[in-house]
Amino acid sequence: MTNGRQAIVIKPLRKAVLPVAGLGTRFLPATKAMSKEMLPVVDRPLIQYAVDEARAAGIEQFCMITGRGKTELVEYFDIAYELEATLRERGKQEGLDALRDTSMQPGSIVSVRQQEPMGLGHAIWCARSFIGEDPFAILLPDDIILSKTPCLKQLADAYHLTGGNVVAVSEVPPEQTNRYGILRVGSDDGHMVEVTGLVEKPAPEDAPSNLSIIGRYVLTADVMPFLAKLERGAGNEVQLTDAMAKMIGRVPFHGIRYEGKRFDCGDKVGFLEAQIAFALEREDLGPAVRAFLKPYCECL
Ligand code: G1P
Repeated sequence: MTNGRQAIVIKPLRKAVLPVAGLGTRFLPATKAMSKEMLPVVDRPLIQYAVDEARAAGIEQFCMITGRGKTELVEYFDIAYELEATLRERGKQEGLDALRDTSMQPGSIVSVRQQEPMGLGHAIWCARSFIGEDPFAILLPDDIILSKTPCLKQLADAYHLTGGNVVAVSEVPPEQTNRYGILRVGSDDGHMVEVTGLVEKPAPEDAPSNLSIIGRYVLTADVMPFLAKLERGAGNEVQLTDAMAKMIGRVPFHGIRYEGKRFDCGDKVGFLEAQIAFALEREDLGPAVRAFLKPYCECL
């Protein structure tokens, strides 16, 4: 305390919630017996991209919000003793290296079951014991982002400056506002925008802007009491956007026009585009992919 004013304490960001309870109906039949978060982009499952990005932003503790039939996501982050022993015995170092990022510090990943599909807000509320009073990140694994600086790191930097809520935002075509959480924008320096309002999936004519939230958030624990009300919003679901909207004016709240390209892997075209874009970036695959794409491009 100085001059009778309370200093703002910005708590470090160490926790992340990964909502993975969705049924993945858009990818049936592929997702009949496997989680959509296990679908690979090139050779890594979507969930691995989210975890790698979070770690690069300083996240050390993870909570997956799972549902029925999602136990393979828990298995995925366990140590596969037999597999590793076999690879070691056979001298398959490349395979062992590929497994390195899947290993977690003991106790650093937990899972909570969302028993009923009541929406994203409800899924996040299921993590309340894990969160306690701490700030936390949310990564929706459907969205993967190709960028120089990991997207969540860009958000974490903004959080460490402001101490409040930060969401990743990008412009969407006006006719697509009904697919996203949309911002009402205050001051805007081209990179960081002040959030003065939020609406979940508004019709184009009701949208306050065409700046949408994409699947990366840093929130303070103050969101939990709002989520706890379990009020239903758009689609008759408990919406995270509605709870966040109630925090405006109580905590600093900003959108970040992140550097990078986002791929919506919950959509077939976005998923296919991600395969190509990420493969082209890879030193080991880029040249071969470029070569096989050429004839396809020429005949378009
Ligand atoms: C969720 C959020 C929405 C956000 C979107 C980003 O919607 O509710 O506000 O814009 O993720 O991908 P969903 O894609 O789950 O319908």
